[in-house]
Amino acid sequence: MKVNGKVVTALGGSIETSNDTVTVDGIKIVPVSKFTYIMLYKPKGCITSAHDEKGRKTVYDYIDVQVPHLVPVGRLDYDTEGLLLMTNDGELVNRLAHPSGEVPKTYLVRVEGQFPEHILAKLRKGVEIDGVLTKRSKVKLLEQGEKEAKLTITITEGRNRQVRRMFEAVERNVVFLKRVAIGELKLGGLARGGWRYLHEDEVEYLKNL
Ligand code: URA
Repeated sequence: MKVNGKVVTALGGSIETSNDTVTVDGIKIVPVSKFTYIMLYKPKGCITSAHDEKGRKTVYDYIDVQVPHLVPVGRLDYDTEGLLLMTNDGELVNRLAHPSGEVPKTYLVRVEGQFPEHILAKLRKGVEIDGVLTKRSKVKLLEQGEKEAKLTITITEGRNRQVRRMFEAVERNVVFLKRVAIGELKLGGLARGGWRYLHEDEVEYLKNL
C-alpha cells in the first residue's frame, strides 16, 4: 500500500480521505462515502416529513431501506410530485435547502387559463408574494390548449408554495405540479413512488452546485 506515493508498512497510521491518495498494487482506492444519497420520485398525496399527526403517508413510506438520519432536502407540498433528494449528509442539506441559495429547480406545471406573452413576461420578471417580489425565473410555454396550458418554470428560491403562489399572483390556478430537475440533475425515467441511489458523479455535481 502507498500513501501519496510512499510505501506504508506500519500499522495504525491515519489518512485524510479528502487529501491523501491511497494505492494498493498501483490501483487507487476510493473510500466508500459514509453518507447515503437518494433520489425519490415523490408521488402527490404524501408529506415531506417523518411524522404527521393526521396519519397521512410520508415520503419515508416509499424508502424501503433503513438509513439512519435520512432527511429530505427541502420539501415538496402534499399535492406536488416529483424529484426529492434525501440524504444524511447534513452539509449538503444546508447548502441545497438554504432559502437564499441559488440552486435552480425546474417544475412542469399544468395551469388553467391562457398565457399571452405579457403574463409570461410578468412571471419571468417577478411577481409579488407576501409583498416581496420573486427573483427572475425562466418560464417556457410548452403547450397552450383551450382551457389549460403546460409550462416549465425554473426558480432559484424556495419560498413556501412558491410556484403555486406565483401563478395565483397572475390569477391562474395550478392543477398539476411536478419537480423535474434540481440544477442539471433530472428525475428521468424513475417511476412514481420509486427511488434510487445517486451516482458518485451526481453527488459531486450537487456538492459543487
Ligand atoms: N412550489 C410549490 O408551489 N410547491 C412545491 O411543492 C414546490 C414549489
